[in-house]
Amino acid sequence: MKVLELYSGIGGMHCALKDSGIPHKVVAAIDVNTTANKIYKHNFPGTKLMDCGIESLTARKLDEMKINMILMSPPCQPFTRVGKKLDAEDIRTSSFLHLLSLLPRLNNCPKYILVENVKGFEESDTCLKLRETLRECNFAYQEFMLSPLQFDIPNSRLRYYLIAKRAPLKFSFETSAEILTFLPEENHLKYVPGKSEEGQFSTMYIACDTSQNNVSDKDESKYECTTKNTDLEQSNKAEEKHTKNLLHGTSQGNSAAKCPICREQCLQTMGHNMRQITEDDSDHYPNCCPVLNFLEDKPPDFFDSFLLTKKELKRFLVMDIVFPCLKKTTCFTKRYGHFMEGAGSIFQMSQNIYNMKEASELKDRTQELKNRADWTDEDYEVLSRLRLRYFTPREIANFLCFPSTYDFPTDLSRIQLYRTLGNSLNVHVVSALIQLMVKNPE
Ligand SMILES: C[S@@+](CC[C@H](N)C(=O)[O-])C[C@H]1O[C@@H](n2cnc3c(N)ncnc32)[C@H](O)[C@@H]1O
Repeated sequence: MKVLELYSGIGGMHCALKDSGIPHKVVAAIDVNTTANKIYKHNFPGTKLMDCGIESLTARKLDEMKINMILMSPPCQPFTRVGKKLDAEDIRTSSFLHLLSLLPRLNNCPKYILVENVKGFEESDTCLKLRETLRECNFAYQEFMLSPLQFDIPNSRLRYYLIAKRAPLKFSFETSAEILTFLPEENHLKYVPGKSEEGQFSTMYIACDTSQNNVSDKDESKYECTTKNTDLEQSNKAEEKHTKNLLHGTSQGNSAAKCPICREQCLQTMGHNMRQITEDDSDHYPNCCPVLNFLEDKPPDFFDSFLLTKKELKRFLVMDIVFPCLKKTTCFTKRYGHFMEGAGSIFQMSQNIYNMKEASELKDRTQELKNRADWTDEDYEVLSRLRLRYFTPREIANFLCFPSTYDFPTDLSRIQLYRTLGNSLNVHVVSALIQLMVKNPE
């Protein structure tokens, strides 16, 4: 498969293609962003990376590449609900419209096209134009709205996807005019961390056996003592012991798998108000792997520089705060690391239930408080005891399912890494879609 990767960024599509197991060659990747290109080159030194605008492509240049597949994530700002939604009028859409204008003029039109964008794109005139162009070029297509949560990955990132296949090729499933919110052959594509040959993550503390993380109704009585008779002193001690075992990997098997449940139930009872609702919360995904599996294995002081400053703690009310046993983080956007509201979850290093309870109560008290100057030093003490920190770029790459072999150049700032990662995509979800796209009917 000869593949053209457009709007290649840091190469999320390239990683997904590799993960899909389909024999391929990325004949060219194109992007204008210098930082993203630096990261791309670092990871794919053998791929031809064109540092130019997509509007400079011509039908002749595309024909010469003899490509079978185009993978692309066009800029999403013209379609985001928080933006101005200028759609086709936004200058940032013009390169995509240019590309669409080239497709009907190609002698070697690709057989497969995959497009990724934000929720909101599906309602745009640009999307209408995409569908119209695909029909004109004899493509069958299927649209999806999917979140990694559906693949047992504890990260919310609801995105629009379109896969297209040119006649006479046919999809292996019956297409629908509706935007599907599931994969037709989903059961075969469940996410198993660490299973791929390259290893999905740089680190994993425990093997994730999600089957043991479910507390069925009939099992609930087993956990009653931790959830209902909450003797804080005792449960704190138990907590700390559990956490130590988990973090040092001394407790495996059943006890390690059960530990997050105890903690989750305790902490959820006390800290439910510390989390934000996201648009894919309407469904519940009990089989997600815990956040624990996505953390970096480093000595505690490694994370000191990721701790929130006093000024950042002031944004406590709008944060989504998570800890190892939870099974959901919010979407990490390009604003992560310098903007708090809706930019991605914050990690709580303290596993002390008493600290959590105090902070949760503080949040209840201060919900209505407009003037942060009214916060006392004691309030900040309560918050700093939680030891809140940002997820590291590597941890975000883990949530996005980049392989452990994926690496960042050392001369880029943390903010540059957050920005480019936030623009990227979930590798596992796209890999599943690529596999579905190329699969032939039986
Ligand atoms: C949503 S991001 C794609 C991210 C990518 N899929 C990844 O895994 O990192 C959009 C990318 O399009 C690039 N871009 C925007 N306009 C462009 C243009 N006219 N020509 C080439 N690249 C462009 C941006 O620099 C950005 O990296």
